[in-house]
This record gives sequence, C-alpha cells and structure tokens, in this order.
Amino acid sequence: MTYAASSMRRTKTVSITSGKGGVGKTTIVSNLAYNLARQGKRVLIFDGDLGMANVDIFFGVKSTGNIHQVLTGEKTIQEIVTELNPNIDLISGGSGVVELNRMNAFQRRALVDAVAEFDHQYDYLLIDTAPGISDNVLYLNAAVQKSAIVITPDPASLADSYALIKILHQEYKENKFSIICNQVRDEVEGMQLYSRFNEVVNRFLFIGLDYWGSISHDMAVKKSSQNQRLILKHEPYSEVSQQLMNISNKLERSLIKTDQKNGLQFFWDQVVGVA
Ligand SMILES: Nc1ncnc2c1ncn2[C@@H]1O[C@H](COP(=O)(O)OP(=O)(O)OP(=O)(O)O)[C@@H](O)[C@H]1O
Ligand SMILES: [Mg+2]
Repeated sequence: MTYAASSMRRTKTVSITSGKGGVGKTTIVSNLAYNLARQGKRVLIFDGDLGMANVDIFFGVKSTGNIHQVLTGEKTIQEIVTELNPNIDLISGGSGVVELNRMNAFQRRALVDAVAEFDHQYDYLLIDTAPGISDNVLYLNAAVQKSAIVITPDPASLADSYALIKILHQEYKENKFSIICNQVRDEVEGMQLYSRFNEVVNRFLFIGLDYWGSISHDMAVKKSSQNQRLILKHEPYSEVSQQLMNISNKLERSLIKTDQKNGLQFFWDQVVGVA
C-alpha cells in the first residue's frame, strides 16, 4: 500500500458490550476480528476487561502488558501492543481505563501523542468491554462510534442491557446502539428477542436500535473456547460461523466513514478526557 493510501485510513471504532456477564462478548470480538482480518482489514482489539481478560487466549498468545503499566512508566505503549494474528493487534486496557480518565493534563497529552502514531494504521478498533455499568464500561462505550450490545434470552440479560442503554443515553447522550442476540435457538427466536427488546427501549427511552443479527446456541462454541480455538477458523461451515460472518458484514456496512466520532485519535481523546 502506498503511503497516501494508508494515510487515508480512518479507524472505525466499535465496542462489543453487555449489561450482564458471560453472554459471549469475548467470543464475538475474537471471531469478528478474525473474519475482518482475513479479508485484509487491519484490526486493533482493545481488551477493556482486565478481570476476565481473555481475548489473547482465543489466539493462543499471551498479552505483553497493559495500559496500567504504561501509566506507571513500566512500559511504553508500543511495548504493550501484542500481535495476535496477522492483521490483528491487541492492547489490554482493563481497569486502567478509569485511571486514564484521572490523569493530569501532562500525562494525558503524553499518552495521546504516543497513541497518535497508531492512527491510520488500523481499519477497525474493536473493544471488548467488561459487563455492567462501571465507569470503565461507560467511558469506553461513550468514546466509540457504535456500541453493539450482546443480549441473550435470559431475562437478567435484557434487564441489565436496558439499564446500560438507559445510562449511556441519559448521562452520555448516546443514541446509537446495535444489538447482537446470542445463544438463541434459531434466527426466528433471535429476531423475536430483538423485536421485544427494541419495543421496550423504544417505548421508554425513545430510541431505536439497529439489529446486527443472531448467533445460535451451540455446544461447539463452548468447546472451541475451552480448547482456545476460534469457531470461525476451525468450523468455518457451521451455522454459527455463518451467523458470525453475517454480523461481521453488517458491522462493516453500519460504520460509516463520515461519522463524526470515527478515528483512533477521537477515541483516545475521549477516553483520556482531553476532548
Ligand atoms: N452461541 C453460543 N453457544 C454456546 N456457548 C456460547 C455461545 N456464545 C458464548 N458461549 C460460551 O459462553 C461462555 C461465555 O462466553 P464469553 O467469554 O465470550 O462471554 P463474555 O460476555 O465475554 O463474558 P464476560 O462478561 O465474563 O467477559 C463461554 O464458555 C463461551 O464459550
Ligand atoms: Mg469477556
């Protein structure tokens, strides 16, 4: 690629998030990254969940460090970027994100400048957040172009996702949310789940959601994660892999370049509170 072409690249930013834990965020982020990367896209994954940080595990690679170590001066930002796969890099953020927001002006500027050189290197920034409504999760979701919320048929997942959307909407003025239904029986159940959830959010918060698709419950997914494998790589012809590819295509179509909030620089400015 020529310099001119690469300098045109604007990183599109999306978070995969949820109200309730264990709904499939890390599984989805890892497989979407893999699908985008094999189509030649450059992907940076930001692991925002230090408690259960495990994106690296799916790729059989150990992360080289995290944002906290950058803030304490132990490591440089370059040193904590871990290559997971061709075209996929990882930065572990975790609870460090809250510290980012409490840095002094000098620290902020230094970090923003350090990260500036990553801008234009990636087509996508995918963020795997922790579940819930902690500051960490809210900051990350408020800083991206789109938050994709993973819901499952479990009533607790719906209630907690509603709470997450409500707080992001009311306190951070967010109004663009996409929905991924996971662990459903089939596409029909997924569509119905989305429709019911959309109706409630519509009625009480006056915002419309965007349906990105459904993923069936399949023990092969669980087995893949137990064996530290990506289902999309090892069972590419399964229904679940097809569904993940559909969601990946939907993600690509939904993130418009001209969106105000695009770009890695914008994301970092928001997260560290410069903007
Ligand atoms: N469609 C599916 N069918 C069957 N099992 C699934 C499916 N999606 C995810 N799982 C399993 O559910 C468990 C939780 O998945 P995952 O770790 O991706 O969730 P998470 O939302 O990232 O969790 P946490 O909130 O703890 O970070 C894993 O064992 C995973 O293999
Ligand atoms: Mg996870």
